[in-house]
Amino acid sequence: MSQLISDAMKKQAALLSMLRKENIYTYSLEVSSACANRIVVSGKERINFISNNYLGFSTHPEVLKAVRSAVDKYGLGIGGSPLACGTTELHYKLQEKIARVYEREACVLLASGYQALLGSIQATIGKGDVAVMDSLVHRSIVDGVTLCGSDKRMWLHNDTEDLDSLLARLKTKYNRMLILVDSVYSMDGDWADLPELQRIKEEHGALLLIDEAHSLGVLGKRGYGLPDHFDMPNAPDVIAGTFSKFAGAVGGFVAGPADFIDHLRHNASAYIFSASLPPLTVAGIHRSFELLDEEPEWRERLWNNINYFLTGLKDLGFDTGPSRTAVVPLLIRDLEKTMMFNKMIFEEGVFASPIVHPAVPPAESRIRLGVMATHTKADLDRSFDVFKKVGKKLGII
Ligand SMILES: Cc1ncc(COP(=O)(O)O)c(C=O)c1O
Repeated sequence: MSQLISDAMKKQAALLSMLRKENIYTYSLEVSSACANRIVVSGKERINFISNNYLGFSTHPEVLKAVRSAVDKYGLGIGGSPLACGTTELHYKLQEKIARVYEREACVLLASGYQALLGSIQATIGKGDVAVMDSLVHRSIVDGVTLCGSDKRMWLHNDTEDLDSLLARLKTKYNRMLILVDSVYSMDGDWADLPELQRIKEEHGALLLIDEAHSLGVLGKRGYGLPDHFDMPNAPDVIAGTFSKFAGAVGGFVAGPADFIDHLRHNASAYIFSASLPPLTVAGIHRSFELLDEEPEWRERLWNNINYFLTGLKDLGFDTGPSRTAVVPLLIRDLEKTMMFNKMIFEEGVFASPIVHPAVPPAESRIRLGVMATHTKADLDRSFDVFKKVGKKLGII
């Protein structure tokens, strides 16, 4: 091993080397097609359950048309940060669109969802404040809180009574309390209880930031996420999100009051010190937002697939945890079996993602499956056959 690998790193290096030796390491395999319901991986077509491209918009002809026309005008990228030359008319148009979607005064684009979380948290709290996180929030929230310099506390996942009593204990000690939740949880596919969060934050004078990553395009009558689902547009104070799921692209956003967004633009490192999203990406994302309204059939198809898939997996005897969205965990609860299951379904033509320690505790090892609107019934039925065969072979069902 090179001297860059310290003693502390050796345990993980040994685990990775074991997985490779056993030929059950399935990360970063070579992909050589677009991210559709079928995807070519390691030279062979597989059914795609690994992506978060829930609506399949990354290959929608209308999106590609918008992208091509932006390439013709702007080329590959804009070559600067948003405060320099990186805010084109397309960026302004998309920011206004998202502000309207979430019924906020303003919105700002960042280069990724991860950066949107770092930037929105840094702009909201700091020393003397406290971040109060659901225990299952995404790593981008955890890192954002570490970066912002506030104190931090966790409450039990989706347990609003625990949150309530935590805030009651904290409220005399801090200037500001910021509640942080994922709208839809990225490992379990359940969602946050917005009405209760609204009640509790008002009772204790706290602020609420939601991460719309897996919710935008999926939840709500119009696909406008968790606030749309509960018809509570004003419940969150700050809304952050990503385009890597609903548009199958890249980039992030933060929406909120105009003075807050202005403050973020002049203070959040993740916004100031990073190059702007390429106009071609912004154009494709803007068209994707329009398609949410123009072609609601994609969401209908997605929800039909989610319901069919969850029911089918449960009927086979799999444990899908609390999922009720396009994020579907297959809980296997054993690290090696999880890696083995993933490798075996891959050989049978199904591409999925093993989630193991340190992403989740070993006893919660799982395969994570992303349902797409573009999955056909034949895709889902074929995957049931494969899961059944491999699940029985490994004694999981
Ligand atoms: C809940 C959640 N928030 C934020 C992110 C980060 O988004 P991005 O991929 O755009 O950096 C992800 C992506 O994995 C996510 O699942």
